[in-house]
Amino acid sequence: MNIQYLGHSCFLVSVSDKKLLFDPFISPNPLAKAIDIDQISPHYILVSHGHEDHMADVDHIAKSSGACIVSNFEITSWFQKKGIQNVHPMNIGGAWSFDFGKVYMTPAIHSSSLPDGSYGGNPGGFVIETIDKTIYFAGDTALFSDLTLIGKKHSLDWCFLPIGDNFTMGYEDASTAAQWLNCKKVIGMHYDTFGYIQVDHAKAFSEFEKKGVLLQLLNIGSSISI
Ligand code: NI
Ligand code: MN
Repeated sequence: MNIQYLGHSCFLVSVSDKKLLFDPFISPNPLAKAIDIDQISPHYILVSHGHEDHMADVDHIAKSSGACIVSNFEITSWFQKKGIQNVHPMNIGGAWSFDFGKVYMTPAIHSSSLPDGSYGGNPGGFVIETIDKTIYFAGDTALFSDLTLIGKKHSLDWCFLPIGDNFTMGYEDASTAAQWLNCKKVIGMHYDTFGYIQVDHAKAFSEFEKKGVLLQLLNIGSSISI
């Protein structure tokens, strides 16, 4: 499995011969200006919730690549009304086997309205079980005790957790989340993009180190193999 960071909470995950794009917010993000959204061409776009900083490029990339949008029912219906028919609606607690692995939609403690003010359903996250690795993309969320249930149900190799605070959990709670998830390896997201979520990296690393959890902060555009 290969993971490329595209800024904010956006990642391109390559598994087998499929490319999964999570929460694309690239063209409005000045930190990600080196990324060309037309070069990404994913097979799937997974959307955790309806906020602009997770959806800004979904419409463009879905239309240009023909990728299938996987999200909650309200969000996939909203994109269908915009003329995108390749969607897969899900909701919290549900699972579906795709050609790259099995996706479980998980709860998140947050909010979710669409850019035009439409109801965005409940915010969520995704556990992706593949023949290679199992990963958990938390979306935007607070720390909540049911993360323990996710850790009991799934043997997680890596978790993608928000660390920026203010709108989501900060790095201190994220390091606790990793313990509750029983996961020793975390990729940080949702930090440094705007003033409210700027993070002292050294403090974030030391908080995770104290708890015996590896924190990986990727440079925008860079990739790791897991
Ligand atoms: Ni949000
Ligand atoms: Mn957000």
